[in-house]
Amino acid sequence: MNKSSEKKELRSSNGSPRSDFDILVENSIYRRDFIHGIITFGGIAFLTNCAETSESSKKNSSKFTFKQIKASTADTVTVPEGYKVDVVVSWGDPLWTKAPEFDPVTRGTALSQELAFGDNNDGQDIFHHSGHVILVVNNETTNRKIIWGNRPDSKPVTSDDIKKGMMAHGVTIMEIKSSNGKWGLLKDSPYNRRITPETKMLITGPAAAHSLMKTAEDPTGTIAKGTWNNCGSGRTPWGTYLTCEENFHKYFSSKKKNHKVPENLRRYGIRRRDKGYKWADIDERFDIAKNPNEANRVGYVVEIDPTNPKSIPRKLTALGRLQHENAEVVVNKDGHLVVYMGDDERGEFIYRFISEGKYNPNSAKNSFLLEKGFLFAAKFNVDGSGKWLPLTPKTTGFASEAEICINTRQAGSAVGATTMDRPEWIALNPTKPELYCALTNNKGRGLKPNEGGDTTPVIGPNPRKRNEYGQIVRWWPKNADHTSDDFTWDLFVLAGNPVVHNNSFAGSSNIDRGNMFNSPDGIKFDQSGHLWIQTDGNYSNKGAFRGQGNNQMLVGDPKTGEIARFLVGPKECSISGLSWSPDRRSMFVGIQNPGKRGGGHWPEGGTSVARSSIIAVSRIDRGKII
Ligand code: FEO
Ligand code: CA
Ligand code: CA
Repeated sequence: MNKSSEKKELRSSNGSPRSDFDILVENSIYRRDFIHGIITFGGIAFLTNCAETSESSKKNSSKFTFKQIKASTADTVTVPEGYKVDVVVSWGDPLWTKAPEFDPVTRGTALSQELAFGDNNDGQDIFHHSGHVILVVNNETTNRKIIWGNRPDSKPVTSDDIKKGMMAHGVTIMEIKSSNGKWGLLKDSPYNRRITPETKMLITGPAAAHSLMKTAEDPTGTIAKGTWNNCGSGRTPWGTYLTCEENFHKYFSSKKKNHKVPENLRRYGIRRRDKGYKWADIDERFDIAKNPNEANRVGYVVEIDPTNPKSIPRKLTALGRLQHENAEVVVNKDGHLVVYMGDDERGEFIYRFISEGKYNPNSAKNSFLLEKGFLFAAKFNVDGSGKWLPLTPKTTGFASEAEICINTRQAGSAVGATTMDRPEWIALNPTKPELYCALTNNKGRGLKPNEGGDTTPVIGPNPRKRNEYGQIVRWWPKNADHTSDDFTWDLFVLAGNPVVHNNSFAGSSNIDRGNMFNSPDGIKFDQSGHLWIQTDGNYSNKGAFRGQGNNQMLVGDPKTGEIARFLVGPKECSISGLSWSPDRRSMFVGIQNPGKRGGGHWPEGGTSVARSSIIAVSRIDRGKII
């Protein structure tokens, strides 16, 4: 962000007249004498649980066992006293002894990259299998200044440079091992595997074999090549990993100057130019003029069995085509599988999938549950109630279920779902039927419609115009039944900056100078019911973000609303991805894109190239994390 826009933001936040809803939020979240329930203001109701509980938390001492750390702009990972940080694996580390070690001068080749840990680690999970600990990590994307930082102007020179970038995407499956209290990669493990944009995948669900899925390379419409821009993750009760294709549109392009991108692809952000990856230069699949259907074959949740290195990943079209963030899988009390999903784009929607069949814990065959079911998009009402709106041919006007699974955004628009402030991760509280979703920010809120033309009113769970800080919404399914079409909701936190603002942009009452942050993104519960919050936001530490420092990880108590800062990442990074070791004594945290603009050198320091990495955070006394 440049300086003039920072000043403008400060003026607009401090100086412009406040909207009715600004006042509503201030009068609900900031009030100090709430009682439980709903208050009304200006004829609109607003749940007050958040404010009431967070205020009570301030009267008591912190329940957390660590001392909150300060914001920081240092080029290092900072954790509370009594904890340590070890790097487990970094971008370019080879998974096999046959592959070369990472070369910081060339930054590798396409071949070395294909045999190594990918770049920009994001969603992750741990699988324990026959005494092995298998870490599965998404490699979401690359940054030009890093991957091609050895080239003039950080641009690819050879086709191998472009292919190297491609091979840094996908998923890395690797066995890890602890020795002398330090976790590291186990080279040559039979479980080690790279999934890339070239790995063979099966297309499952309603869209499989549909004419919109057929290409010259795959006239059957049932076999896809690869996955990319793998963002958040999920796991199934039967022990498979779900990887979620997010900003898949940024890789398509056409050299045909007059090529008109069709409306159905424009809704997904596809344009004539890509975002600099140049994949169409080496693979015609990514040329939208030549292969327009290729873009229909990405934007899905993909199931991978990390315990079987020969397994073929499965694209799950039944879960819809979105810029998928993560996939939170829940077994409902009646056995139906329910998957909650966010579509991370300004003004897009939150979705729910309900399986047609029921989960059988005694069966080895449950994967079919993710092939057939029912899709819904969420409607949040201003009175604190909500409704899941079914996406069917009848409600959306689409001819078939297959078309809804391919054009899911348009289906969400057709039923009038609520346009959200960029839904990122969704997490289920393990102690009660309660879902949380990080709404990271939305600079277009109240100013611009979404790509489909749906308006973005400043209201409900998206209560701030030009929202640069984000919030976390939570909801409760009616009767604790995840298949119920009704729910109630409130806001767990409005992020903000009380140093800069004295209105709703200061944040809710559980935000103060000591724990403030912007742009919540990754959220995950631990087994004890603590909500871990990771940020992917503005790290300028200036203007509207003064005092917030680098991106960070905090932990929240859903009962009291208390939030405390636990970790701060190095310069220019995002904190992305979280899992725990089998003994729960180590927490694996993703440090994504450190030094992405060339201003950082973590983890090796000096003048070294910065490398995305997974770190292990543990207590020095080997006690429980918190
Ligand atoms: Fe890949 Fe929405 O974050
Ligand atoms: Ca994210
Ligand atoms: Ca993000």
